[in-house]
Amino acid sequence: MNAPCRIVGVGPGDPELLTLRALQVLSESRTILHAGPRDDVGFAIEIIAEHLRPDHAVRGMALAMRRGPDDGSVGYDRVVTALIEESRRGRPSAFLTEGDPMLFGTGSYVVERLKALAPDVPLEVVPGIPAMSAAAARLGWPLAQKEEILTICPATYHHDQVGEILDRGGSSCWLKAAGVLGRLISELQARDRLEHAALVERLGRPDERIFLDLRDAVSRELSYFSLVLVRS
Ligand SMILES: C[S@@+](CC[C@H](N)C(=O)[O-])C[C@H]1O[C@@H](n2cnc3c(N)ncnc32)[C@H](O)[C@@H]1O
Repeated sequence: MNAPCRIVGVGPGDPELLTLRALQVLSESRTILHAGPRDDVGFAIEIIAEHLRPDHAVRGMALAMRRGPDDGSVGYDRVVTALIEESRRGRPSAFLTEGDPMLFGTGSYVVERLKALAPDVPLEVVPGIPAMSAAAARLGWPLAQKEEILTICPATYHHDQVGEILDRGGSSCWLKAAGVLGRLISELQARDRLEHAALVERLGRPDERIFLDLRDAVSRELSYFSLVLVRS
């Protein structure tokens, strides 16, 4: 019988923000796959490190975080092939995604391919706390209230639309923010809203940094795991 395959959101970085379901699934899994460059190195595997057992087979799938023109599909297919193999051998498996799998997560691509290629494999998606929600909680800034619209922007793809997006109003969350920080600062300054923004980097990890003035972050080397929140 095919074993279950789970796509698991492990939350933004703090192991205490893992869900009970994520922990249950990890304890039932025999094989754990993640996007990191090595079996024991990667953002997601480090979040769950304290829950690993010697009998867990852990595999880093070396998926690039900054996508090239191939949109990462080769890497996703490697993950899907491995998950199908595990399932058909009767071994329950989990593929980890930081934050929530269905919100700009690697897990979402894996889910789509797995459903298309192997409908016989029992699949479960375990939601996780998105980094954006954890950032809002840490800053004490509501993401959206009443009639407000919340915009979530994968910033690297919308460099030229930063001003236009800010002008829509409401709060905005800028993922993959490091590459557009200069542009964000100048567009926010032009609207007198610079103090409405903060950058959080590697939130929940031991080396977390929070910049309440974006100008303090702009000359720093920033991790890919950085986001900017702009409150309304
Ligand atoms: C591909 S998106 C994945 C989003 C994720 N699935 C979620 O639910 O939060 C990656 C982006 O999420 C943001 N991110 C994820 N984890 C983060 C963290 N711990 N601290 C700051 N930003 C984070 C960064 O902007 C990063 O570039």
